[in-house]
Amino acid sequence: MKALVLAAGKGTRLRPLTHTLPKHLLPVGNKPILLHVLDYIVEAGIEDIGIVVSPDTEPHIREAIGEQRRGRASIEFIRQSEPGGLAHAVQIAEGFLDDSEFLMFLGDNLVQNGVKEFVEAFYVSACDASILLKEVDDPRPFGVADVDASGKVTRMLEKPKEPKSNLVVIGVYIFTSEIHKAIARTKPSWRGELEITDAMQSLLEMGKEIRSCVLPGWWLDIGSNQGLIEANRVVLDAYSERDIKGKALNSRIEGRVQVEEGARIVNSLVRGPAFIATDCQIVNSTIAPFTNIRAGTVVENSSVERSVILEACRIARVRSLTDSVIGRSSTLLGFGNDTGPEKVSVCLGDDSKIEMEC
Ligand code: TTP
Repeated sequence: MKALVLAAGKGTRLRPLTHTLPKHLLPVGNKPILLHVLDYIVEAGIEDIGIVVSPDTEPHIREAIGEQRRGRASIEFIRQSEPGGLAHAVQIAEGFLDDSEFLMFLGDNLVQNGVKEFVEAFYVSACDASILLKEVDDPRPFGVADVDASGKVTRMLEKPKEPKSNLVVIGVYIFTSEIHKAIARTKPSWRGELEITDAMQSLLEMGKEIRSCVLPGWWLDIGSNQGLIEANRVVLDAYSERDIKGKALNSRIEGRVQVEEGARIVNSLVRGPAFIATDCQIVNSTIAPFTNIRAGTVVENSSVERSVILEACRIARVRSLTDSVIGRSSTLLGFGNDTGPEKVSVCLGDDSKIEMEC
């Protein structure tokens, strides 16, 4: 089996961050989203991975992946010039996929416990496609699957107004080469994209069998700022371990906190789960749970909670920064007085500079 990871797209909901960095490289817990996805795939025993990239995401993703291997797996990049939809991404990857069966994974989605069991279940099922589903309260914004009692999919609909089921398609699929014939029969949707949900409906109309597995654990779709903050909370909570490699002077570090080599914590309180990367300096500050601070960032005389602060930022005299995402090399300065709002929540792109009353 091969794997196809989709990491093109525009990422409009995560602007301004995605003007300069693909969302797939934003950190969740201790590593970028895309590396979590690649590790799930390698863990499932797949050794041939294609990553669909756009002209904008390609240079960043190539640089981040480094030499084109991850564990035993080799990686090939496939360029999609325009975001023509998920089925379009499969179409342009046909040369790489050949007539192999493949796991398709949206590069901005994470699932609890990876996909090893899902892949193993497919091998014994002898069906033409398999999808991972999740039960949600309101399925209307998603692709929805109607499923019979045995888990066989009977109908697929993209964003139905009156869904019959609350099982939604979550961005992890396995296809045989039959999907290429189904995509060839599929017309672009009202938004001009070739939808994979429509292609799967075509597969059903061709008399092919799609099976489903319902994901018991969490599913994280990191499409928006809130999605990133929530994903960071869940992943830090699930995987953090106490591991203090940096230096702590006159400070208290409580619970599951990872402090990388080269980081310095001075006169501060850090409460886990939290991640503080190499070369950070935390001085006279409080770092509250679910905070992820990347390399080389300085936090002084401030308090930060439930936030993702990217590399080389400076945060000083900010009384309470919460539920925020701060792009690389940004500066956030408070005036250090008690005027202004008590809590501040912001989403800043790379290289931002803000001075504020807080
Ligand atoms: P989406 O989140 O649906 O689209 P997007 O990434 O462009 O984001 P936004 O809606 O905020 O503009 O895409 C899901 C995943 O699929 C994401 O990892 C990008 C990828 N993708 C492609 O690789 N090619 C495509 O044509 C599209 C639409 C998405």
